[in-house]
Amino acid sequence: MSRKKIETTLIAAGRSKRYTQGSVNSVIQRASSLVFDSVAEKKRATAGRAERELFYGRRGTLTHFSLQDAMTELEGGAGCALYPCGAAAVANAILAFVAAGDSVLMAGSVYEPTQDFCSKILSKMNVSTHWFDHNIGDEIAERVQPNTKVVFLESPASITMEVQDIPAIVAAVRRVAPDAVIMIDNTWAAGILFPALALGIDISIQAGTKYLIGHSDAMIGTAVANERCWPQLRENSYLMGQMVDADTAYMASRGLRTLAVRLRQHQESALHIAQWLAARPEVAVVNHPALPACRGHAFWKRDFTGSSGLFSFVLKERLSDAQLAHYLDHFEHFSMAYSWGGYESLILANQPEELAAIRPANGVDFSGTLVRVHIGLENVDDLIADLASGFSRLEA
Ligand SMILES: Cc1ncc(COP(=O)(O)O)c(C=O)c1O
Repeated sequence: MSRKKIETTLIAAGRSKRYTQGSVNSVIQRASSLVFDSVAEKKRATAGRAERELFYGRRGTLTHFSLQDAMTELEGGAGCALYPCGAAAVANAILAFVAAGDSVLMAGSVYEPTQDFCSKILSKMNVSTHWFDHNIGDEIAERVQPNTKVVFLESPASITMEVQDIPAIVAAVRRVAPDAVIMIDNTWAAGILFPALALGIDISIQAGTKYLIGHSDAMIGTAVANERCWPQLRENSYLMGQMVDADTAYMASRGLRTLAVRLRQHQESALHIAQWLAARPEVAVVNHPALPACRGHAFWKRDFTGSSGLFSFVLKERLSDAQLAHYLDHFEHFSMAYSWGGYESLILANQPEELAAIRPANGVDFSGTLVRVHIGLENVDDLIADLASGFSRLEA
């Protein structure tokens, strides 16, 4: 039989009879206690507790097992740990592989709270963090220390959207530190547009809060690990008390069924709007991985199977605070919120000096105000009209 295409896998993944029990998607099994009928049954559950036997709520129920199986299949791993949000997935994945005296090597362009976890929490545990510019490729080998245990990537980068040469980075790290665990925040690609594990990454992390949930109404984190890292990630998550409730796991499972069609529309609308923005006289550059002007575009073209709805653009001008408020406060379809990945369009802005402050290793080579948009599922002409009105407000 030919290998299934991703749309078909998304529909079928995690829907074994054990998990669906006659319904179409998995059942919602809410439980802390899971009751054993006999001593023999309890023994069997205890022996298989890491392997999807019903044992205790923190190890998961049928609802969690269904989502874990689906994510494992989608991202091609050995197992998937679930967390109450993306930040918990990031923090616990790193924590699982470091001890006092170790060091983390991290792209300087990653999501700000990920950086803060290293500088504010890991530092208290005597785990140091070193930063590297978004795409130093081969040179990364020189940054790897004998005590580097984790290399953490995010591609495209948060806010500025640079795409990294992941195969080159993985090869360079493996040459000098074959045992280091390489992780990526794979949220932008929803785990399916970028084959992280197939390209040599050990752990692919997602803020499932974004595209998996897809409706901006719940939070979850996922981390899919390869064979080498799965047992340690799994046990560490359990001991750190990391799990998500069954209802949210179910919502993520349900989100998977429409993920491909949602992403296809996010991609189409976002690309259309990115191209429209690129032709606007107010815009200096559009940071959309699928456009040639975006740093690392060639790597996107080579390694990704598509794009999603989040990108940014830099204005030629640095707006004053008053101009920026006038611009942002009056959009009809774009709301302001610290998230993305849902069905609704969102907009946020950063001044260049704000970005420079959160990425000292990367520098910021632009002087205009940066605007980040998530393109939702509204009609694209309505969104363009809304953005055009925004530019008119700047002129007024
Ligand atoms: C790239 C990225 N990673 C991780 C997270 C954290 O996810 P959560 O908000 O679910 O903790 C976010 C949230 O905005 C994000 O944008």
